Amino acid sequence: MTDHKILILPGDGIGPEVMAETQRVMSWFADHRNFSFETTSHLVGGASYDAHGVPITEEAMEEAARADAILFGAVGGERWETVPYEQRPEAALLRLRKELDLFANLRPALVQAPLADASSLKRELVEGLDILILRELTGGVYFGTPRGIEDLGGGKKRGVNTHAYTSDEIRRAAEMAFDLARLREARLCSVEKRNVMEAGALWHEEVVKLHAEKYTDVALSHMLADNCAMQLVRAPKQFDVILTDNLFGDILSDIAAQLTGSLGMLPSASLGQRRKNGTRPALYEPVHGSAPDIAGRDAANPLAMILSFAMALRYSFERPDDAALLEEAVERVLADGLRTADIARGGKSERLVSCSEMGSAVIDALKALAL
Ligand code: IPM
Ligand code: MG
Repeated sequence: MTDHKILILPGDGIGPEVMAETQRVMSWFADHRNFSFETTSHLVGGASYDAHGVPITEEAMEEAARADAILFGAVGGERWETVPYEQRPEAALLRLRKELDLFANLRPALVQAPLADASSLKRELVEGLDILILRELTGGVYFGTPRGIEDLGGGKKRGVNTHAYTSDEIRRAAEMAFDLARLREARLCSVEKRNVMEAGALWHEEVVKLHAEKYTDVALSHMLADNCAMQLVRAPKQFDVILTDNLFGDILSDIAAQLTGSLGMLPSASLGQRRKNGTRPALYEPVHGSAPDIAGRDAANPLAMILSFAMALRYSFERPDDAALLEEAVERVLADGLRTADIARGGKSERLVSCSEMGSAVIDALKALAL
């Protein structure tokens, strides 16, 4: 069997720290579960900009196109805020999404039982919460043209972005969402703004059509995006899978993340079209950012990055048992009271640990569970 090719892009801030713990976890799977892989690593974001003058090099892009999976840490920081728009750290992420055609972004928001009190909502509203947001990731206003800032003369300007979706773009994202809903509670809520936007009306139309064609076993509902934002904080447990566009998905997934009260816990997967050999481009990253304020202090929470690797085991490497094992190890560590600073609430049964101690604890839990 050939080794899986994994590209490691640690990035900026706490990225390298959470990635290092994840790589230790990966080695455990290599040693104990026959998971064979080879890695290459590249700078990305501000780190790449400082070294090479670009947020991602052509070489790294070529590696990305060849990789079976990309593990991405985090990019950005105040230091690069004055860098020109196209060279900003975030541009690397947008380029990877677009050029690898990573059209489906999966953002699960799961409230781990031991962390139910970390939410800013009441425990009963979020206890047991398990929703999945599928955000379309390569279309809409993020990439639509025309875009830019026009000079209107006389010191006046006009900023332009275009929100556009084709039926094909809507369909492939919706298909992925329906397929994922089938593996869960088979409920899908499609979210747009068809009351104001033609692109939203088309979105609604295509999703209804696709549902009738081949997904009648999935319960489909529709919601306007503003109402969805409100419903997410009013009664989040009503949702199973939410399907939405790039911009609404950006916003709604931040709300969903806050429902769990622990951004440091949330993984994500961005998936592309299947290649002829059955693999597909895929990028896995924590939802949290680069947190420059705590970088370099061994204080970050590595669990979102580690859980992103669990998603890679599930969606890229077809190892659902290993994914479940890793998720269970994380649950156990939390149940044992281990907390990095971001999820610590000062409870008596809690033990405050560093980033590397958390990584070690996950490995110990893996050892115990695999016995
Ligand atoms: C996200 C982020 C990105 C986005 C930024 C960093 C470009 O907010 O992944 O949600 O807006 O998509
Ligand atoms: Mg965002």
